[in-house]
Amino acid sequence: MRHLISIADLTNEEIEEIFALADDAQNLRAVKPASGQIMATLFYEPSTRTRLSFESAMQRLGGSVISCSDMKASSTAKGETIADTARVVSSYADVLVVRHHWDGAVQAMAEQADVPVINAGDGSHEHPTQTLCDLYTLRKEKGAIKGLTVVLCGDLKNGRTIHSLVYALARFGANVVTLAANGMALPQYVLEHLERDYDYALTPVDADDLGAVVTETDALYLTPKQPHQLALFTQVDQVIQAQLNTMAAGLRYDVFYMTRKQKERMGDGSPDEGYPTIGRDFLRAQRFQDTVVMHPLPRVDELSPEVDKDRRGIYFKQAAYGVPVRMALLKFLFDRRAQKRSAAKRSTIPYESPERLGPQCRNPNCVTLKEPVSSARRFELRLPVQDDALILTCSYCDHRFKVQFAGNVKSKRYHFFDSALAPALNDWLSKGELALFDSIKEAEELGYEPFKSGPHRVLMADAEIRNALAEMSAAILRDCRDPERLLILGVRSAGSQLAQRLAAEIEIRCGCKPEVGEVEIYGPGEELRRISPAEADAGALNLRDREVILVDDVIFTGRTVKSVLSIIFRSARPQSVRLAVLIDRGHREVPVKPNYVGKNIPSSEHDRVRVRLRELDADQTDQVVIYSIVNPSETRVQAAEPSTSGGN
Ligand code: NCD
Repeated sequence: MRHLISIADLTNEEIEEIFALADDAQNLRAVKPASGQIMATLFYEPSTRTRLSFESAMQRLGGSVISCSDMKASSTAKGETIADTARVVSSYADVLVVRHHWDGAVQAMAEQADVPVINAGDGSHEHPTQTLCDLYTLRKEKGAIKGLTVVLCGDLKNGRTIHSLVYALARFGANVVTLAANGMALPQYVLEHLERDYDYALTPVDADDLGAVVTETDALYLTPKQPHQLALFTQVDQVIQAQLNTMAAGLRYDVFYMTRKQKERMGDGSPDEGYPTIGRDFLRAQRFQDTVVMHPLPRVDELSPEVDKDRRGIYFKQAAYGVPVRMALLKFLFDRRAQKRSAAKRSTIPYESPERLGPQCRNPNCVTLKEPVSSARRFELRLPVQDDALILTCSYCDHRFKVQFAGNVKSKRYHFFDSALAPALNDWLSKGELALFDSIKEAEELGYEPFKSGPHRVLMADAEIRNALAEMSAAILRDCRDPERLLILGVRSAGSQLAQRLAAEIEIRCGCKPEVGEVEIYGPGEELRRISPAEADAGALNLRDREVILVDDVIFTGRTVKSVLSIIFRSARPQSVRLAVLIDRGHREVPVKPNYVGKNIPSSEHDRVRVRLRELDADQTDQVVIYSIVNPSETRVQAAEPSTSGGN
């Protein structure tokens, strides 16, 4: 059965095919290919355009429509699960069109339905049919999509239309400039999909260069990786920065895609202040002469009605295309009822825990947490492993997170995840023996015991670590322009402990304590947070124009640093970012070079190096140790201490 849950369910060729059908909508209307068919619309969230254009499309195809005018007046109010609703309604209709407030809910419903299911928007995840309308509009107005430069503006964090659109733009070869409202940048999981699946990388550009339409935001430029690849790693390189700005100045902006602040997904009544708006003045600038303005609608205050009369305001046309595009989509899906899910879907390995306990998605709005009975804890796993981390992607909401512990169902042994384990994990995965856990507690509750690791050798003891930190802090102070503007940013967890120690050393030397923050990749919540000063009213961590010292315990491949740099540049543009690591293992896969290094340890890739800190370990001593892993496939050995590694 072909469903449309994500824009990734359609190949570019299939999208073109749908557009060709849409061009021929008059003919479809005459032929009535859906006559005798029924479409059910299940909208758990408000809608005008999507619902009415779908209903109009179905009727124009000769079909009919059944619907619940208000899902709150359906059996949902009595506690019916979405899985049951989907199963029942799919026996009344030939296609379901569903909108829901949970990320992944439509996928969960599609799993129960034996008719095609179309996602009309699920939480802040995706809205693929809006993207079809957007692309169709672009094609009509601008000809080809390839090579266009599209500015995405507003709430890029919660806007589902943006997420589907940015993937599609990347696939069709457009350039994307993101202009996010403060704190509403594209989520890291979206950026990582862009990079991993579509080879798109992120480059910071100067917000002023976009005509200063927005305050308190920084513009980011997404582009096919070549030729701007280096820019992602720009630290203090003014030359590259200057080149980038010139490049941005030379850009022709073809499209300005504006979006509303998704207040219903924030829940905290965050202030509207500083939210970007566009009106007539914006369009006066010479460089926007041929820039069309799009908006998925509804608009609130961000797009002034003044733009309606301007030839460049094409959002009502965009909404009108909703009917022919949805007619075409319905016809396309009806013709493929017998087909399996599209090959366009990413080719990753599905993973479901063979144990009763196992990892859980960290997105609090994911259907797997909101209604576990309607979904499974199913993920996509990527092996061989990158980042020295095991990353799971939720099959429902696409959020990515890191798993710490891996075990074998047969030997009932677990180990802190380590890239040296990758071949063994691959083997277990193929045999259905791979168990993954979020915590030691989870593993031990299921009767797992730790794997044994080889003998530990101490590479740096307490005093040596202390000296290294003292020397690094002196060097940081020597290089810094203004100690008042220093921000010491640690990578969680060992990196943020070291960041706090460096800050204390700096205070001893210069008398002022620099601000300390922490960055967490693949964590459940905010990626950047302040550690000290700890005052609650100190506001969000501000990186703009700061001298940032990024601190981590071990640098190995450099991939962690790369992910952190992307988080930093998405938040704001610091004056500089310098990197301090206690240990450099020298196995770089990306071009980053630490500015401050405690000790170089060019160890073999198979060795594990771990920084133990008294704050994190019960051991009470600071040490850097090196060890190897005993083949974890071995059957039960004497239980040994679980060893963890600071791989990167
Ligand atoms: C969008 C949605 O529901 O996500 N509306 C639509 O379908 N055109 C955009 C929005 O609500 O902001």
